[in-house]
Amino acid sequence: NWSMKDFIDIQIEKIRAEVGDRKVLLGLSGGVDSSVVGVLLHKAIGNQLVSIFVDHGLLRKGEADQVMDSLEGKFGLNIIKVDAQERFLNKLAGVSDPEKKRKIIGNEFIQVFNDEAQKLDGIDFLAQGTLYTDVIESGTDTAQTIKSHHNVGGLPEDMHFSLIEPLRSLFKDEARELGEKLGMPEDLVWRQPFPGPGLGIRVIGEITEDKLNIVRDSDLILREEIKKAGLDREIWQYFTVLPGIRSVGVMGDGRTYDYTVGIRAVSSIDGMTADFSRIPWEVLQKISVRIVNEVDHVNRIVYDITSKPPATIEWE
Ligand code: XMP
Repeated sequence: NWSMKDFIDIQIEKIRAEVGDRKVLLGLSGGVDSSVVGVLLHKAIGNQLVSIFVDHGLLRKGEADQVMDSLEGKFGLNIIKVDAQERFLNKLAGVSDPEKKRKIIGNEFIQVFNDEAQKLDGIDFLAQGTLYTDVIESGTDTAQTIKSHHNVGGLPEDMHFSLIEPLRSLFKDEARELGEKLGMPEDLVWRQPFPGPGLGIRVIGEITEDKLNIVRDSDLILREEIKKAGLDREIWQYFTVLPGIRSVGVMGDGRTYDYTVGIRAVSSIDGMTADFSRIPWEVLQKISVRIVNEVDHVNRIVYDITSKPPATIEWE
């Protein structure tokens, strides 16, 4: 009878037998899959695992620190953290087309990762958090064509690694279960899906540091209130977007002309279709009041009540 405990033991044996005394490289994204692979591999081969975590400056508030505190601090992974915020922002300056932004972020990600990987000697393996669904999708080519999805990945061309993909036979919920069995914190294991280009596609149009901060701060408030309301496991994805429009408001005796923030929350099974979440009015009201009060230059909140199709989950 198949159990997660057996799975862990079998994988650890397999990884040890394959890797021997050689070294494995892992690209950490902060997401569930690569984090679980990291913890599993570290359990199997300790510091023969070297991880690279690229902070592209498009992560949610506190996310990079959380990944480092947990995976390096608590689990002892050897992580090279690359602070590449400026590199990404410079490349993205003046670009407003969503697909161009995706390409730039995806390409830059691979370059930064490769630059770091080149500095390392004697790496024989590359570990990836490939899931069973990824295997099927790439096999039958059902990958979305509406948007080009750039996930973390892409092999350095002039480097020849063998792949290690211990989650290849697992579905997402099994990967989460594995993470829990490995003692990983709930916040990490039950993380909602987060796109590779991150907040870069939640600031609609041109990306600036100021706009990123508005999305980051409003998103944190949304996450806090959704969690307080006990809805965080129920809702598939919930986040804020900055459409970039400004509108007139009033504060005290004065008139304001500030940004509108959009709230997006959906239920879904696989992200291919989605239904907008019926968040209780009281919860939405609390979120609205908090964002307008606590985030500078926001004077209006709107709630996205479209499902997918016809809308997509992300706004770009
Ligand atoms: P859409 O917006 O197409 O999103 O309804 C479906 C799911 O995919 C995620 N998404 C992305 N993930 N790179 C990613 O890794 C991307 O460019 C990207 N665009 C959308 C989205 O968050 C949702 O879970």
